[in-house]
Amino acid sequence: MKSRRESSRRARVEAGDALEVTIERILPGGFGLAHAAGQTVFVALAAAGDRVRVRVAETRGKLAFASIEEILQPSPARVEPPCPYFGRCGGCDFQQLTYQAQLDAKVEIIRDCLRRIAQLAPPDEIPITPSPDPWRYRSRARWQYDRDGERLGYFERGTHRVCDVAVCPVVVPELQQLLEDLRVEVPVYMLPEEAREFEAVAGDDAEVSLSPPVWTDAPRELARTIGGEHYRFDADCFFQINHALLSTLVREGLQDAAGDSALDLYSGVGLFTLPLARRFERVTAVEGNATATAFARRNLAEASLTNARVETAPVGEWLARARGRLGQVNFVLLDPPRAGADTETVLSLLALRPDRISYVSCDPATLARDLRAFTSDGYAVETVRAFDMFPQTHHVETVVHLRRV
Ligand SMILES: C[S@@+](CC[C@H](N)C(=O)[O-])C[C@H]1O[C@@H](n2cnc3c(N)ncnc32)[C@H](O)[C@@H]1O
Repeated sequence: MKSRRESSRRARVEAGDALEVTIERILPGGFGLAHAAGQTVFVALAAAGDRVRVRVAETRGKLAFASIEEILQPSPARVEPPCPYFGRCGGCDFQQLTYQAQLDAKVEIIRDCLRRIAQLAPPDEIPITPSPDPWRYRSRARWQYDRDGERLGYFERGTHRVCDVAVCPVVVPELQQLLEDLRVEVPVYMLPEEAREFEAVAGDDAEVSLSPPVWTDAPRELARTIGGEHYRFDADCFFQINHALLSTLVREGLQDAAGDSALDLYSGVGLFTLPLARRFERVTAVEGNATATAFARRNLAEASLTNARVETAPVGEWLARARGRLGQVNFVLLDPPRAGADTETVLSLLALRPDRISYVSCDPATLARDLRAFTSDGYAVETVRAFDMFPQTHHVETVVHLRRV
């Protein structure tokens, strides 16, 4: 007879096991949630409602990570992924879903983070603005080059092996053309030994930048006009990748904000700084990247906006130093990187007590973590709105407006 320990050990899901499971919903991170033998199973590239046979790749504590071996009963939300590299290429993880199912999953992901991490009751409805084109939207791409295998494309899922990609259906047509040209040039071009990665960025007027520059005429400086404002930026600076949604995002980030004093924190090349400077008497933008702040100053000057100053500094350090002399701030536009606002920034904002905070986020989990801090200390959530800036992936942009209560 088996001991209890043995039988309970045998009941545990282990790497290499094959399981039949039903996908319950899509989780933050993009995995499908399933349960087997009392354990939680995260299934890659799944659709809610799929009945699938999966193979467990690894376990971490009580979590098992699995991939689909056979679709036993497809979910109505499932479609045939149009990209021939889908599943192998590490770029997209939502092509198996209808576009509506992608949007629904993203709203669910935001709800889940608000409930579990922010400990807030999510609003009844979280509107999500679809991407005008769910394909051909990305104006920035990072391509890997494996000179031994002569492969150019993206890393394969979960590896550093290069998936050779001839066509990428999510990049803008200018970048697709650049990829095709690069595939012809790269095997014969004398690249420096360390050149294994290309960064390609597109601006308005079909201008493209490529780093390292295979062609000498490729510009470093690009431009975009968004909502009537003109922005120049260096290809190395952050600039949002789905330009077709940007004027809507900026409008929602600002809503009806106007008044004496505003801060634009993590301001990049000034995407929000310029429209803020048209609505507020005084604006201070803070950004850590010196190239981006140089472009922000230039963008303001070219727009003849003289009421905004731009500081090059880590936001947390700058706020801790400056908050005593800022006076009453009416509005803060907070647009941190994926990691969210650092603790110093959140604590300084809580001490500064601006009337309103507009939090623009590309990661619902870190957004929810920071919202918990704000809503535990005198701020209430007024609106939550999502933007599908990254179709065919689980990523989503969220704008939350908070008001001091
Ligand atoms: C999500 S982007 C937003 C940029 C800008 N608001 C926009 O929409 O174009 C985040 C920006 O924060 C900057 N950044 C990251 N960490 C920072 C820090 N600790 N202090 C200041 N800036 C930082 C990055 O260089 C990047 O420009």
